[in-house]
Amino acid sequence: MVYPTPRLLNGPAKTPLWKRRLWGLRFLFQPLETLEARHRAYGDDYRVSQPDRTPALVYFSSPEALEAIFTAKPDQFSAGGGNQILRELLGDHGIVLLEGAAHQRQRQLLMPPFHGDRMRSYGQVIQSITAQATRSWTVGTAFAVRPVMQAISLQVILQAVFGLENGPRYEPLRQTLSQMLDGFGSPFGTMFLFYRFLQQDWGAWSPWGRFLRLRQQIDALLYAEIANRRVHPDAARTDILALLMAARDSEGQPMGDEELRDELVTLLFAGHETTASALAWALYWIVLLPDVRSKLLAELEALDAQADPVTISRLPYLQAVCQETLRLYPIAISAFPRVVKQPMSIAGYALEPGTVIMPSIYLAHHRAAVYPEPKQFRPERFLERQYSPYEYLPFGGGDRRCIGSAFALFEMKLVLAQLLSQFELTLLNQQPIRPTRRGLTVAPSDRLRMKVTGMRC
Ligand code: HEM
Repeated sequence: MVYPTPRLLNGPAKTPLWKRRLWGLRFLFQPLETLEARHRAYGDDYRVSQPDRTPALVYFSSPEALEAIFTAKPDQFSAGGGNQILRELLGDHGIVLLEGAAHQRQRQLLMPPFHGDRMRSYGQVIQSITAQATRSWTVGTAFAVRPVMQAISLQVILQAVFGLENGPRYEPLRQTLSQMLDGFGSPFGTMFLFYRFLQQDWGAWSPWGRFLRLRQQIDALLYAEIANRRVHPDAARTDILALLMAARDSEGQPMGDEELRDELVTLLFAGHETTASALAWALYWIVLLPDVRSKLLAELEALDAQADPVTISRLPYLQAVCQETLRLYPIAISAFPRVVKQPMSIAGYALEPGTVIMPSIYLAHHRAAVYPEPKQFRPERFLERQYSPYEYLPFGGGDRRCIGSAFALFEMKLVLAQLLSQFELTLLNQQPIRPTRRGLTVAPSDRLRMKVTGMRC
């Protein structure tokens, strides 16, 4: 659409500092409610910052604006710069914080292992990790859903990154990564990522002190693994660390230890907690809604007993269930921030350099005009029509779109198919499960618990 004159973004009038701080806290503790309240007040595209404040902070969820953002030339935004909040966790050199040509190069390197044949070769690994994680389940076994899904997805990403041989660092790394993430597993824990003044090392028992010590342990394990690979190179390895170590930049230089560490941490974090939360939500909806469950079971039962992972991953209703799961409560409620580099216009709004753009995935997925009855879990909507990448964007978009989207969906489908084919499950808690903040993501609360009520095979 062409706008003859610049449009003005709606947003809060001048507000005292204490009130703004309260909104900040509300966003931490009730992110979805806060987004909805602002959306009701200001519409699809709005500013959060004060009217006179530069740089501005702007949320966009109209398909028109999202299309303009995701199709903009990479040099119009600085994306890594908007992700400073992640720097403490991921370091300076991971793909999320890279810019320009270095970012493109790293994407080209990392995309292939998460797609096509390389991705499909993980099918049986995912199935055997799921079997191992549920091996002890019998009728009456009760379990907290998200932690089990996290144990599965963490093992999957560890094997993709480091290869199939479980070395001596594998188990300590698994445990330390889980402990670190659990530190940010509540809105309270997340405050330490958002508020720099809380980032104080008051010893091993203080939240930030604990984080720093765990990070040190993770770094030591990763650097030891890198050193070991340098001493004992093995050209036959096809895991992601081997790929990263073999890569050369435009000047023919390999990645240094620190760069390797930052990339490994990025992949380990980005690649498992998101998938675990999505799996937990999917299982919740399937067990909660009998109609969804019976349609899914009918689809799985119609499969040949020897169906391979790729055939399972192509089941249309299973695909629709995963898509609807990621629509209703997208794990990342917004894509990574983009920072405007030069004056530009998005959907008729004139934006100054420095403006921080938040593409709001949650609000885009709840537009009633696109998704009638947006609060209802209805996988059929994905069988009835196709959505554009600016209406449906659980993995973000443009040149920062998630590199693990195909891998995550593949993993979700295989784990769900296996759990449903083997176990009859019931919810232990009859009250609705609400989304709660986990670091930068939103996940089902830990009240989501289930019990095995029957064995199917
Ligand atoms: C259900 C699971 C997942 C969800 C919902 C998810 C979501 C996202 C989102 C919203 C972004 C930001 C995109 C943007 O700003 O436009 C992102 C980026 C990213 N994701 Fe995922 N993700 C998932 C799984 C994975 C997996 C399995 C990996 C594997 C390693 C992964 C690796 C990454 C990386 C490396 C980036 C940064 C890409 C870049 O900066 O170029 N994610 N993801």
